[in-house]
Amino acid sequence: MATPQQPLFDSTQFDPGRTELPQVELVKSIGKASDVIVGLATSKGRPTLIGASPEVERLVGRGGQLLAALAEQGAQPEIDKITYLNLPGVRVLAVGLGDSLDLSPEDLRRAAGIGVRHATASTSPSPRRVVVSLEASSDAQLQAVVEGALLASHGFVPLRRNPPARAIESIGVIGSSRTSQQALEAGRSVAQAVCVARDWTNLPANLLGPSDLVEQARTYLKDQRVEVEVLDERALAKAGFGGLLAVGGGSARPPRLLRLDFHPRGARKHLVLVGKGITYDSGGYNLKPAESLLTMKHDMAGAAAVIAATHAIAERGLAVHVTTYAPIAESMISGTAYRPGDVLTIYNGTTVENIDSDCEGRIVLADALARANEDRPDLVVDVATLTGACVVALGTRVGGLMTNEDATADQLLDAAEIAGEEFWQLPITAQIRSQLASEVADLRSKKDRFGGALFAAAFLQHFVADGTSWAHLDIAGPAWNREGAHDYVPTQATGAGVRTLIALAQSMAG
Ligand code: BES
Ligand code: MN
Ligand code: ZN
Repeated sequence: MATPQQPLFDSTQFDPGRTELPQVELVKSIGKASDVIVGLATSKGRPTLIGASPEVERLVGRGGQLLAALAEQGAQPEIDKITYLNLPGVRVLAVGLGDSLDLSPEDLRRAAGIGVRHATASTSPSPRRVVVSLEASSDAQLQAVVEGALLASHGFVPLRRNPPARAIESIGVIGSSRTSQQALEAGRSVAQAVCVARDWTNLPANLLGPSDLVEQARTYLKDQRVEVEVLDERALAKAGFGGLLAVGGGSARPPRLLRLDFHPRGARKHLVLVGKGITYDSGGYNLKPAESLLTMKHDMAGAAAVIAATHAIAERGLAVHVTTYAPIAESMISGTAYRPGDVLTIYNGTTVENIDSDCEGRIVLADALARANEDRPDLVVDVATLTGACVVALGTRVGGLMTNEDATADQLLDAAEIAGEEFWQLPITAQIRSQLASEVADLRSKKDRFGGALFAAAFLQHFVADGTSWAHLDIAGPAWNREGAHDYVPTQATGAGVRTLIALAQSMAG
């Protein structure tokens, strides 16, 4: 007789606070490591090892000669190349670093990531104890190594009846006399936030609807000094959030507006974060084609990023006032769904002609941006998987950045560089702005397919108060890795945007 089916997964059992990362600690020696990661660069035309301390050298035998042993394995110092040296009880992984000894934090983040990602691939012995020896001599370098190592240790886990065993038990990082425990903690906090954002984004839409994401956020933030406020569909109707209600109106699972507030003592600046939280984007009556439907559970990656970043900002106690909004809805088709041609009234009274129900992201963001003006912030940053056009323009690994002033673009680009994320500025031109005019409402939600990323940004800008600095990050490309894992980036959800937002908050902290 058949046994009743157990649900594979229940989102209430998924505790994001326990997104399990390996233990990470500062170590002085390689101890009982199963894998030791070192670097291999070219200096003055010769292969040179990075991080091969006398202790590591001795792994090959009493006299050393690690470089010669690696050369026998065909070791190459080229970036991304990796060479294994299996020794009794331990394996050395030499990661190619290219031909400069002047390594940026991102070089180190990638090198640590490549090493750890390869370490996760071996199963015996399991789980592995990895030591990363890459001569991290400053706190910025150490933080980057910790981030790269942890980010590479985590990835998409299939929802199977018998979940796979964890591959890595612990990561030891060899620092220097100038590196601190604080830098290690900062790296751990950042990596944890990215991995939680990934885990939420990877959850299929049947297991993560609007109220589930809200509950995940509550659970995750319960130990932080972050105020959590949630508007349900009745509160949304009362307050006039006509965009979010329209987009979420077709779903049996009603929309939510999540608002978080972290207001530490000593904060001089006020940063507002806004993240697109479409837990599933069917396109609505402008139904998406089959291949696009398959991965549209990830359309809440922006909301995941801002919630997770808020956690890290609070956990690290950065002295900046952060208010975070996540407009969360499921865009479905039904008798109560919104239609092309409908006119919607946004929170600030602006009316919008809904040209295409697949433009749901800008509609829910408009409501949240209009609400955010009431907080009178110094800077508003929204993050959204907003347009396929941005992916066409910049590819899958570079996010779009659009702002209402160049100084803000520079501020975001600096933060992204520190964080090791790539964004490229796109313009909001007068011609594109002129396309917002509608014959039946204040604005239209779409024009044509030309400059689609720019039009969406122009639409959003309309809801930001004059005089407020604003940046829009379109992460439709980098939020989702449809190829294999690379560097410290796993397949599927990547946690894009989280690190840039944390670095931005750090730059604003007093
Ligand atoms: N969520 C999509 C954008 C998207 C596309 C994200 C690909 C990730 C990967 C968004 O809601 C959308 O559907 N945008 C439309 C806009 C169009 C109707 C103007 C698009 O990009 O086609
Ligand atoms: Mn859409
Ligand atoms: Zn969408």
